Amino acid sequence: MGPDDLSSLGVSEPQPAEHDYRVEQIDGTIPAGLRGTLYRNGPGRWEDHKGRPLRHLFDGDGMLSAFTIDAAGVHYRNRYVRTRHFGGRGGVSHMGTSAPGGWRANICRVPPNLANTNVVEHAGRLYALWEGGPPHEIDPDTLETMGVRRFGGELRWLGSYSAHPSFCPSSGAMFNFGVELMPRPHLRIYRTDRTGRLRHFRSAALPYAAMVHDFAITERYIVFLISPIIPDAMSVALGRAPIGDTLRYRPERGSVVLLVPRAGGKIRRIECEAVLQFHLSNAFDDGDDVVIDAITYADGRLLERIARFHTTSLADMPSQFTRFRVGATGRVGAEPLTDSPSEFPRHHPAREGRPHRYAYVNTRRTLGTLYDTVTKLDLADQTELSYPAPEPGNSFCEPVFAPRPGATAEDDGWLLTVEYRAAHKTSRLVILDAADPSRGPVATAQLASHIPQGFHGNFSARTS
Ligand SMILES: [Fe+2]
Repeated sequence: MGPDDLSSLGVSEPQPAEHDYRVEQIDGTIPAGLRGTLYRNGPGRWEDHKGRPLRHLFDGDGMLSAFTIDAAGVHYRNRYVRTRHFGGRGGVSHMGTSAPGGWRANICRVPPNLANTNVVEHAGRLYALWEGGPPHEIDPDTLETMGVRRFGGELRWLGSYSAHPSFCPSSGAMFNFGVELMPRPHLRIYRTDRTGRLRHFRSAALPYAAMVHDFAITERYIVFLISPIIPDAMSVALGRAPIGDTLRYRPERGSVVLLVPRAGGKIRRIECEAVLQFHLSNAFDDGDDVVIDAITYADGRLLERIARFHTTSLADMPSQFTRFRVGATGRVGAEPLTDSPSEFPRHHPAREGRPHRYAYVNTRRTLGTLYDTVTKLDLADQTELSYPAPEPGNSFCEPVFAPRPGATAEDDGWLLTVEYRAAHKTSRLVILDAADPSRGPVATAQLASHIPQGFHGNFSARTS
């Protein structure tokens, strides 16, 4: 790795402090129409309560950040989610680090709920999400943890509940799912209505015991693209290896597209060549076809990289933003959407499940380790507008789209992202004009400290 790559890894340093302050250094002018809060979530420290280092990217305690943008400027606060793990539960088998005590201490153990993957608002409540267990409800103003939520017992057993819910723009419903392995591998799909009432909606059999991280909706379907990311269940059950170290990409098992009709009826199952993906961007109905946009990888090296993220490069495993088209006859076509290695795709929330023209992604230009550019993709014109980091070693987190109030154009709004400034070991909120991010930030809010890279977040109109 080059010197810029090495300095960029500072974004993976833990952040033990919890802050709550008004940001003093604002550069540029915060748009008058931009009022609300950017919530972000991600691992804040890769160690357990005894200071034992944890190696897997997914293993850090969830740390929430909130940038509240109001007439007075920007207020920043961060808080760790008070999970059982954060509170000091010992003897834990993590994704990439076994519990001390050899195989006997690790038999049939599952990783702890770290609440570290996403933070979403629905029906006036804020939740920190982690796919292997139930949500933690969070106070949206203070970021204090209010407790684990199982929705009247609907989230049963492990309470698996993915970190990537989809929000129907017309009904206000939130769809989500959890992977359950007993009595046989299946997806348990949930629908939460606009008042916050969660109900089991449907279950769908999986072709194998796979890690399923994300899904999408269209106006007709709930859409899954199952990747053969398969753990060695026997090794995990016998305590021989932590589950994250046993995950393998098994392309010989193929992939399956599951189209679950939202109005009821038979589930369509379409087998196709293996696809390795964690994130779907969006999906929509196009006549009888279903279009699915996803970030794909050519091979399983990604799984090794995230298991040892402190010391490895992403440069030799570029990702491909890919559009899949599933025909009425079951034919699945694929075409690239950009040549730039991409991740963390976002779009206008009102286009969820509908045809969309613009996608906003992180791309990689010079860094081999992290994403150093924010890119707007025009999927109609196949053009791109990018804002590369202005300093070497800097990196961005996922660009979240915040619409301008009253706007009608799909790209009328702002992109909110957090930039890690490697030379300063600090982070800043970056506000870009979504219509043309290449013009550079409209405004930035410089923090006194850094935020570890993190995974996902969302924008809320809430300001208090
Ligand atoms: Fe994700």
